[in-house]
Amino acid sequence: MKITITDARVEKYFYGLLPARDAVLKEMEALARKNDIPIVGPAVGRLLAMLVMISGAKRIFEMGSAIGYSTIWLARAAGRGAEIFYTDGNPANAEKACAYFRRAGVAGKIRVRVGDSLKLLRRTPGRFDLIFMDVDKHQYPAGLRIALPRLRSGGLFVTDNTLWSGRVTRKAKDAATRGIQEFNRRTYHSKALFPVLIPLRDGVTVCQKL
Ligand SMILES: C[S@@+](CC[C@H](N)C(=O)[O-])C[C@H]1O[C@@H](n2cnc3c(N)ncnc32)[C@H](O)[C@@H]1O
Repeated sequence: MKITITDARVEKYFYGLLPARDAVLKEMEALARKNDIPIVGPAVGRLLAMLVMISGAKRIFEMGSAIGYSTIWLARAAGRGAEIFYTDGNPANAEKACAYFRRAGVAGKIRVRVGDSLKLLRRTPGRFDLIFMDVDKHQYPAGLRIALPRLRSGGLFVTDNTLWSGRVTRKAKDAATRGIQEFNRRTYHSKALFPVLIPLRDGVTVCQKL
């Protein structure tokens, strides 16, 4: 589905401003387009990179990594000494991602884990500077519950698709839309978080843990 939160002409103008990506990211974007793989794309990729750079995040956990496109944006921005956990339920995705990580020169700092991202986060010891969530949308409230205690104080919890092509505005029956609606309510009612929902692409919520 084409995501148009912003006016289509504004979106076209804005995407036209983005600098060209390197050969690896370009190839991943082409593969995602061809095979309908829902990656964050370059605008949100840049936002993730900027959040990592301004927060100085080094220990990062990603829930729902697919072919590793967003992982590469996170890993490149995190620089030396970083540790980024890639997690996805599909082993074929992980295999593709590993090949891209090697080509992108970031394989050394990425820990690849296959399985349920929520369970993997529970099982991975230590605290994180930044957690990025992009799993199935009905799991967003549970993902938030599990992620919050695993973030260091001042750390960032970033979540994609929080406007869900505008479907969040409707009375919804499907589990995905309901999951996002509940997630949005919880973040804005939480006393432990300072959230900002940015209407970039399909909506990205950035929460700082207080
Ligand atoms: C939207 S895609 C992730 C895209 C990726 N973040 C990017 O922008 O490059 C969602 C991925 O999460 C995986 N997924 C969904 N729910 C999951 C879960 N609970 N545990 C592990 N993987 C999950 C799917 O297999 C899919 O590959």
